[in-house]
Amino acid sequence: MILLDHVTKQYPGDKRPALDDVSLHISPNEFVFLVGKSGAGKSTLLKMITKEESPDSGKIIIGGIDLDYTKKKDIPNYRRRIGVVFQDYKLLPARTVFENVAFALEIAGMSNYEIEKTVPKVLELVGLADKGSKFPDQLSGGEQQRVSIARAIARQPKVLIADEPTGNLDVLTRQEIIDLLKKINDYGTTVLVTTHDESIVNHLMKRVITLKDGKIISDQKQHGIYRLDSDNDGMSGFHNGRPIRKPGQSLSRPVRPVAARQVAARPATPRQTATRRVVAASKRPATRTNKPLNAPGRRVV
Ligand SMILES: Nc1ncnc2c1ncn2[C@@H]1O[C@H](COP(=O)(O)OP(=O)(O)OP(=O)(O)O)[C@@H](O)[C@H]1O
Ligand SMILES: [Mg+2]
Repeated sequence: MILLDHVTKQYPGDKRPALDDVSLHISPNEFVFLVGKSGAGKSTLLKMITKEESPDSGKIIIGGIDLDYTKKKDIPNYRRRIGVVFQDYKLLPARTVFENVAFALEIAGMSNYEIEKTVPKVLELVGLADKGSKFPDQLSGGEQQRVSIARAIARQPKVLIADEPTGNLDVLTRQEIIDLLKKINDYGTTVLVTTHDESIVNHLMKRVITLKDGKIISDQKQHGIYRLDSDNDGMSGFHNGRPIRKPGQSLSRPVRPVAARQVAARPATPRQTATRRVVAASKRPATRTNKPLNAPGRRVV
C-alpha cells in the first residue's frame, strides 16, 4: 500500500537531510503511528506520500502508483485518493459542516444528487449527524476535527494520513478522535498518524515507527509503545496494561496509565466553552450566503 525505498530528502539550506535513507513498507489496512521528536522528519515523510515534496533520491510507491511517474497534471487526481487530516483542521470558515464535506466531493466531480446522499452518511459515521448546518466556529475543537476527518474520508480513500490530528485537543477529546480513526481503519482504510501523544500510542498498541534525525530508528510492528530511542526488538508492548520489558531493557520515558493523565488534564468547563463560542461568533461576518453549493455567483473559498 505504502512503500518508501531508500528515500532521502534535504531541504535547500539545511545542514542535514530531513529524511535520510528511509525505507518503509505499510500493508493495506494497517494502523501506524509515526513518532519522533520535533524536527525528526515526520511531516516530511507524510509530504512525500502526498507528493507535496519530492525526494532527492529513492522510490515511493503508493497504492501501486510509482510517484516518479506521476505527471504534474495528475497530482490533484492522485491526492484525491488519499485522505489528509491536519492538526489545525483547515476547514472553510464561511461554509457549514455539510458544505465543508460536500465541497470535497464537488471538486472530485460527484453529482449533487450523490453529494446529498453521501454527506449525511459520512457525518453520521463521524458522530455529527445533527451538526450539518453549523459553521466551524460554532463547533468545539474535537467536532471541527471530526468534520475534517469526514471531509478526508468522504471519497472513501484507501489511505488516510493525519499529521498530529489531536495536537490541539484536550486529553478526552484526543482519545475520541483516535477511536474514530481506529473505526475508519476497521472499515478497511490504511491509517498513518503522526503524534507526540504518548498516551494514545500506548493505549492503542498498534505499529509504531520512530524517526530520529530523519532516520527510522525503531519499527515496532506489533503492540508498539511510544518511544523515542532505538532500544527495540520489535516485540515490546504491554501485557495486562503494563509495559513488557526484557531484563536490562529500558523505556525512553516512564509510562503512566491513561486514566491518571485523563484526571490531570480536564476539558473546558461548559462556561469556558460558551464564552469561546460567543467570542468566536462575534468575529464572524454578519451576513452569509445560504445559496446551494453550485449556485451561480457563489464564491468558492
Ligand atoms: N520547508 C522547509 N524548508 C527547510 N527545512 C525544512 C522545511 N520543512 C521542514 N524542514 C526541516 O526538516 C526537518 C524535518 O522537519 P519536519 O517538519 O518533517 O519535522 P517533524 O518531525 O514533523 O517535526 P514536528 O514534530 O515539530 O512537527 C527539520 O529540521 C525542519 O527544520
Ligand atoms: Mg510535523
